[in-house]
Parts: sequence; structure tokens; C-alpha cells
Amino acid sequence: MSIGEALPRPDGRIKVTGQAKYTADQRLDGALFVVLVGSPVPAGTIRQIDTHEAESVPGVVRVLTVDDMPRFANVTAPSAITLLPMQDTTIRHHGQAIAIVAAERLEQAEQAARLVRADIEVSPFVAQSEGAAVIARGSSNAAHRHEADYLQPSRHHNPMEPSAVQAVWDGDELTIFDTTQHGYNVQAVLSSAFGIRPEQVRVICHHTGGGFGCKGFVWPHELLAAAAARVLQRPIKLVLSRAQMYSMVGYQPDMRHHMLLGADADGRLSALSHDVENVTSIAEQFVEHATSASQGVYASPAIQTKQKVRHANVNHPTAMRAPWEGPGLWGLDSAIDEMAHLVGMDPLDFRLANYAETDPATGKPWSSKKLREAYAEGARLFGWYDRPREPVRDGPWLLGSGMATSSMGCFRFPSVARVRLNASGRATIETGCHDIGTGTLTIFPQIAADVLGLSLDQVSLSMGDTALPKGGPTYGSSSTMGVGASVLYAARSVRAQLAELAGVPDSQAELADGRIRRSGSDERGQSIVELMRQAGRAELRADGEFSLPGGAPFNANGEGSDVAISTFGAIFVEVAVDPELGLLRLRRAVGSYSAGRIINPRTARAQMIGGIIWGWGMAAMEGTHHEPTLGRWLSRDLAGVAVPVNADIPSDIQIHFVDEFDAHASPLGAKGIGELGATGVAAAVANAVFAATGKRVRSLPITPAKLVMEGASNA
Ligand code: MOS
Repeated sequence: MSIGEALPRPDGRIKVTGQAKYTADQRLDGALFVVLVGSPVPAGTIRQIDTHEAESVPGVVRVLTVDDMPRFANVTAPSAITLLPMQDTTIRHHGQAIAIVAAERLEQAEQAARLVRADIEVSPFVAQSEGAAVIARGSSNAAHRHEADYLQPSRHHNPMEPSAVQAVWDGDELTIFDTTQHGYNVQAVLSSAFGIRPEQVRVICHHTGGGFGCKGFVWPHELLAAAAARVLQRPIKLVLSRAQMYSMVGYQPDMRHHMLLGADADGRLSALSHDVENVTSIAEQFVEHATSASQGVYASPAIQTKQKVRHANVNHPTAMRAPWEGPGLWGLDSAIDEMAHLVGMDPLDFRLANYAETDPATGKPWSSKKLREAYAEGARLFGWYDRPREPVRDGPWLLGSGMATSSMGCFRFPSVARVRLNASGRATIETGCHDIGTGTLTIFPQIAADVLGLSLDQVSLSMGDTALPKGGPTYGSSSTMGVGASVLYAARSVRAQLAELAGVPDSQAELADGRIRRSGSDERGQSIVELMRQAGRAELRADGEFSLPGGAPFNANGEGSDVAISTFGAIFVEVAVDPELGLLRLRRAVGSYSAGRIINPRTARAQMIGGIIWGWGMAAMEGTHHEPTLGRWLSRDLAGVAVPVNADIPSDIQIHFVDEFDAHASPLGAKGIGELGATGVAAAVANAVFAATGKRVRSLPITPAKLVMEGASNA
């Protein structure tokens, strides 16, 4: 059995040795280097763009402005925005593309980009007020009442590989190498924008160097790059600079959570209200559905949620790992911890007292949920009930422990995969999905190998190309369920063909070591290579399709079925705080999860550790601040943003998965895990900080200033 084995990643070596070819590594003959010029102001109207000086730089072929650009036919989702730059003269945010410089060499294009002179009639702009609005609330009659705001700043994804595009037209046919989490999104948006058929757009992306959500939808630079290649009649290459990654793709928006909780004397939640307000761009709406946490995690007879947006002259936000419950659990599980203290209960006991036996939002039974077991095993591994109840001193440090619930909804997408078994007994999987570093390159071959009785090195995977069968996306923690199931179905169909050749009923076919036999029999069975040779078959092939009820393109949390699907877990952390310097350190963590069947314990464990580290960044370090007088991101580089490095992360992070099989989520029994590990972490850290210091920090990130401030209770 290969499903369930802790196999290493076959792509690890080519990635760490630099052999993996990312978008910008491709070489298109005769390609021009293209650089985008961003608006220097956050709002206004372009009067004129003077390109003369830029065009006089040697090697510069052309500078394109709004006057040179074709008008896109029809741009809708999955384009991230519909009001595209360089289609009119309106400036809606700082850094919005206003010109495209094309040159024979990159340095020439970069030099010329600095010489483009924009004459802009500047208008007043709406600054992004950080967590500004106050939500008025009524009171409740509960024995215990807790009401507070929890804030979090905008954060950028900052993948190692910036977004990049190489595009070449052949008549009306476009081939585009693009950095993406779903090539078919790019195909759909570009074909619609250029008024051509989807088959006329081929999108290739063999490796994606991190995405975290900012490569999920299609962003303006992808449309502009393809348009520029068409206007210039040359292949082009565009790589966004690190600074442009702040304003030309999305980010997680600044959010305010207003929480109001009531509990009875026994510690049961009598009311739970969660209002979320997030920033969005000036003319379009992005809603971060963070209230989903409060709709799905704890039981309460009265749950009320509200989502609001506030518009500003900022670029458009987008989903960021982990969307929805990730931000939502920051507010919810901080407030839950505060309520547990008000009631006088242990924070874990309080969560158990409010355990949601059924889905709070719909009342439906869960497809599977073993959160009780996850809590219990997490608490045991951490020593939760044996923890000191008062802060412990360790030299200058104060130690404290905190915990939170983890939860992530279940997003599923349809997927098709093809499996081909050749005459030498080797299998190939073909599906146009991607690996953003999460291990899909490992587990899809693992699934096919398991069904066909092959070893992992006998199965290869072709992916990252829209010319292949339409695989599902690599976002929403969905790939294992959707793409994995399509691989499973395809491999099973090939197995059925082998069984027929062998004269064994499919249901009794047992495949191992390249041989097939009737299960339970003690014959050695027949070699599959020999079987195919005798039958004169050079190849056996089959397509597998994972589809959703009613042929839907997307399904959230099992909607439309009689069960609710979600994933669960618990995160326990011990932190150290130096109260004089305000330093905050992670000492150790335990994550324990109820998330369906685990296909590969090694890659799954790595996913959860990565999620916890990501969560530590949210808790203690990350925030992209908007400069209010100039209306732009204050720091647009990797030097000005604090993200966790190895020195921030202790080796003592333990991961546990409850044994579980969820047949509703997918025929593999698997659910999504990629983003689950990031949820709950920020609240657990704030709760641990409270245990260590008595200070309740309600705004992220928990920086030294908030920890040294005298008596800071709502820093
Ligand atoms: Mo993730 S925000 O679903 O890439």
C-alpha cells in the first residue's frame, strides 16, 4: 500500500538544486523584456504620458500607454478585478499600471521605465484607515458578557517567486507561460478578454514558487502582458518586481472583528455575534468571509454575523492562506478565551462545553468530525492540564501557554485526470494542475501507484499545462480531494481493463509488484507487462472525473447535500515574553487535527508545520501598513516586512492527525489540510501571551510596543 506511506517528495532535489524551471526561466526566441510603470499617485486622471525620453533609450522598442492598448472584450471572474488599468485614464490606486515599456534587454526596459513622465490630474483620495470604523452594539442579558474589537492589518503573500508572464501569439493563438495556481483560470479570462475560444489559449506553468492565494485569480499584469505581445507582434517576458508584488496582485485586507459573546452561568454560549469589516478597492468589492468561523465552530442558540467592506484607493485584496476561518478565528478564539476566563473555566473545557455536535450554520450533521479526539490528544501531547496556571519565570522571560481551535471549511472543485499505463509497466498521470510546494507532485503518483500496484518511481506526472485534461485548482486546500479523486478514478479504470485482460473480476483484482491476481488466491498472478503484450496492447488509458452535485463548478462545505463538511483541530502553544524588552518567542507548539484520511504523513506533517509557522508570522510579525498622506504601501520590499525565519521557529512542533475517513468529501476519504494548520495560531499566541503577562493584546501583530506598554489591555 502506497497511500498512507511517508514518501519523500520527488521534486525536492530539482528544486533545491535550481533545475526546476519556473515561468521566468523559460526562454522564448526573440522575446522582448517588458516592464510595467506604476502610477505615482493613488487617485486621479491621466492627462498625458510623455514617452519620448524613455523611447530614446537604446534598445527600447516601444512604450505603450492607454492610447495604444486594445480594449478587452469581456473581463469577469476569475479575473480578480473587472475595471482594468490602461483601459481608461482613471487612476484608482498607487502602483496601478499606466505604461508598458518594451526593450531588447531588461536593463534597457528598466532604465526607460524610470524616464516615463506621467502628467496626472491628481484627485483627493480615500486613505485606507486601519481598523477605523466602530460598530455600535446592543447589550445582552447573559450572565457573562464579553464585547471587544480584534484588529489585524493588511498582509501580503510575498511568495519567493514573483508573478511572471511570457507570452507569444501565433495568429489568434496565444501560448502563455504564467505563474499561477490554476492555468484554466488564466485561459478563461484571456480567451474572454481577447474574444477567442479557450482552446486558442494555452497556459503553461510547470512549477509555481509559492502562491498562498495571490496567484489564484487573474491579475491585470497577465492581461496587459498578453495584450502587449499582440500589439508589439513579438514574444514578451514580464516579471513583476518585488515592489510591484505589493500593488499589482492582491493581499489580505485590513480587518476589524467586532465580537459580542454571552454565556450562561454554566459556561454555555447564549449568544455569539461576529461582525467583520474589511478594506477593499475604491470601485470593486472584495469580501473576506471571516465570519464563517463563527458560523461553523461553536454551538450557540443565537448566532449573528455581518460582513461589511470599506472602500479606499488601494489595490484590490484577495484570498490569502488561510482565507475566511484564518482571520475569523483570530477574533473568535481570542474572544472565546476571554469568555472562558470571565466564566472561570479552563479554556479547553469551555470549548468542549460549546462543542458543535452539528453544523451551527445549517443544523446538518457533519460528514465526519473527531475534534474531541483531536483536542484530547493535543492536550495530552502538550501537557495542557499539567501546565502551570501562573506565569513561570525563566531568567528574563515569562512563560505562558494558550490554545485555540483550528477549523477550515471544505472547498471542492471538479477535476479530470488521465492515467496511461505503457507496455513496460510504467504509468503516467496527465492533469493540468499545479504544485505550489504543497506536495501534489508526490501524492498524485502515490495514489495511482497504490491502485495499480506499482512503486512510486514507476509513475510519472505531467501537469501544469492547459493542453492536458482539466485538473482542479491548487487553492482552497482542495487539490487532494478533487484532483486526487480524479487520479483515483482514472487509475481504477485502468485497473479494471487489466482485470479484464487477466480474466479476473475487477472487484477481486489484486495488484502488486507489477502483477495481477485474484485476491485471496495463492497464485503468483500474471505480469501486467506480459498480459498487455499477449493482448497486443501498447497502452491502457482512462480518464477519471471528479464532479460535484449538479455539475457545479464549486462546492463549499457540502452545500446542497445532507451533510456539512469541514476540517477541525486544536493548536497549543507555549510562548515566552520578555516584559522589559517586549520580546515574544515561540517555545513549542502542538497541532492536533481531525481532517479526514492522510494520504502522505510526511508531506501532511510538513504542511501543518508550515501552517503553524505562517500563523506565527500573522501573530507576531506581519503587517503591511498604508501610508495615509501619500496613499501607498509604506514598505514594498522584503527588507521592510518581518516574516518568520528559522531562528524564530523552535524545533519542538508536534503534529498529530486523528485516524479518519470521510467518504462524503472525496472517494479517497481525504479532506483538505493545506490551510487548516494556519488557523487558530494567532489566537492561541495571544491567549498564551495573556497567560504569561496578564495583558490581552487585541491587535495583530503582537509587537514589542504592545507588550511593553504599561497596563496595555487593548494595544
Ligand atoms: Mo489559498 S488563499 O486557497 O491559495
